Amino acid sequence: MNDPSTLSVISTKKIIQMNNVWTSYDSKSYALEGINLSIDKGTNYAIVGKSGSGKSTLLKLMNGMMTPSKGTIKIDYQTPNMNDKKFKLLMHKIGYIPQSLGLIKNITVLENILIGALPRLGKIQSMFKIFPEEEIQEAKNILKLVGLSGKEERKAYMLSGGEKRRVAIARALMQKPTILLADEIVSELDHVTARDIMNLILDAQKRMNLTAIMVHHDMQLALEYANRVAVIKEGKKILEIGVEGEKIIDFQTGDLTSQEILEMYSDESKK
Ligand SMILES: Nc1ncnc2c1ncn2[C@@H]1O[C@H](COP(=O)(O)OP(=O)(O)O)[C@@H](O)[C@H]1O
Ligand SMILES: [Mg+2]
Repeated sequence: MNDPSTLSVISTKKIIQMNNVWTSYDSKSYALEGINLSIDKGTNYAIVGKSGSGKSTLLKLMNGMMTPSKGTIKIDYQTPNMNDKKFKLLMHKIGYIPQSLGLIKNITVLENILIGALPRLGKIQSMFKIFPEEEIQEAKNILKLVGLSGKEERKAYMLSGGEKRRVAIARALMQKPTILLADEIVSELDHVTARDIMNLILDAQKRMNLTAIMVHHDMQLALEYANRVAVIKEGKKILEIGVEGEKIIDFQTGDLTSQEILEMYSDESKK
């Protein structure tokens, strides 16, 4: 049962809105076509689809790395614009974890985590990577939170796949983000480690009132963890499902069981 005291903190603020968004990499075709979506603050939102369907492109639109050819996007009610100072400040609050994770291999775990603090440091501090003591303390706290205690001095290339994901999450949390975008970060992990990492993200969400938008290729995992699942096929959003415990609300075809959804859309969840 939902506990009313936790419900009261959930706001209906729309953190991301896309209205009829089209985007392309070249003049020949569109990578995304007519995407509409609206993500409430605090949601754990999953995007599922086959390889090449447009999932990573969708995340790149959300962090301002790409702009739409048509349609409108609002991130926290602002239109992404890299020349706008106000949007740049908002960008610092978007933690983005690419599929490749983007860790610096030959520096330590702690140093990788501290990179998340760079956007809020002064120019000189940032250039020479001079971190104030309170930032180092904060990085150490986050390191504990993600279960990497004792590994702070280890070089990133020496870590296991699961540990690397923990560092990438910690680096994103170091940004004190309001939005976390994660691109298939659990796809290559074994079942148990993937769930450990997902639980870590859920825990961080609760602590920080974070909106998590995660790309998955496993529909089962998406249904297990997300409140909302969007299915992307060939650049179009073909389905959006609301998940409440065991109950699934399919906004297009009425209530379905999770088994029916898995059977209907399992194709979309395979690479
Ligand atoms: N940098 C790029 N240049 C040209 N086309 C691209 C680029 N990145 C992705 N695409 C194309 O855009 C489409 C969607 O890609 P992507 O968003 O990466 O899909 P997914 O993440 O679902 O695998 C694909 O057809 C892909 O080939
Ligand atoms: Mg991708």
